[in-house]
Amino acid sequence: MSQQASVFSAVAAERRSLRAFLPQPVDQATLEAIFVDAAQAPSNCNTQPWQVHVASGSVLEELRRLLPEKFLAGEFSMDFPYDGTYEGVYKDRQYGAAKALYDSLGISREDKARRQEAFMRNFTFFDAPHVAFLFLPEPFGLREAADLGMFAQTLMLAMTARGLGSCPQTALSFLANPVRETLGIEGTNKLLFGISFGYPDPEDAVNSCRTERAPLTDFVRFHGGQA
Ligand SMILES: Cc1cc2nc3c(=O)[nH]c(=O)nc-3n(C[C@H](O)[C@H](O)[C@H](O)COP(=O)(O)O)c2cc1C
Repeated sequence: MSQQASVFSAVAAERRSLRAFLPQPVDQATLEAIFVDAAQAPSNCNTQPWQVHVASGSVLEELRRLLPEKFLAGEFSMDFPYDGTYEGVYKDRQYGAAKALYDSLGISREDKARRQEAFMRNFTFFDAPHVAFLFLPEPFGLREAADLGMFAQTLMLAMTARGLGSCPQTALSFLANPVRETLGIEGTNKLLFGISFGYPDPEDAVNSCRTERAPLTDFVRFHGGQA
């Protein structure tokens, strides 16, 4: 394997969802560098439909106060439909990921209160010093959401390569209105998800969480033989 390929494989393998961060903010030059990298992502017809809003400092503190309140009051506002029910192998994998997360925290399946407490940490961004909120302009749908996904993964890999941790969060899209209002964003920008990020806390047990991947034979078929 070339050196470049092994560096890439190492970064791809190292990226995991991290859910505890140190308070230390990321400097502006690094912030800009990761978004320059992320913008290398491909998109349908090079439309680059991503609109990103990064919240830090006092703005983020305001959201940290507001979002748990809105969630607990049941004041949901979603721009994209959310079902969240999986069947068969997808359900098994969902259970596997949840088990890995709660096991890392020592929370049993029956302990609903502590599970809820852990889930609520989504809305305080796992104490991260920054959150990137990823929006799509109004006319866009499924195809452009794929573009945004590619942007997001490129961004998270760029973070990993610089020692930063991240957690993508659909949970944040449940509260699109307060996010938009706090950040002063027009309603024509639709929130798909957010990414909490910063320097990971190596001491926090939640960051020991590891999820599994299905073997290659479960998801890829090579047709037509080898060249
Ligand atoms: C689009 C997207 C949304 C996600 N939403 C959440 C979320 O709301 N809260 C959370 O704790 N993890 C969330 N995750 C993290 C997944 O649970 C995680 O990616 C998966 O279990 C695989 O683990 P890994 O990222 O550590 O490899 C999300 C991941 C993606 C890609």
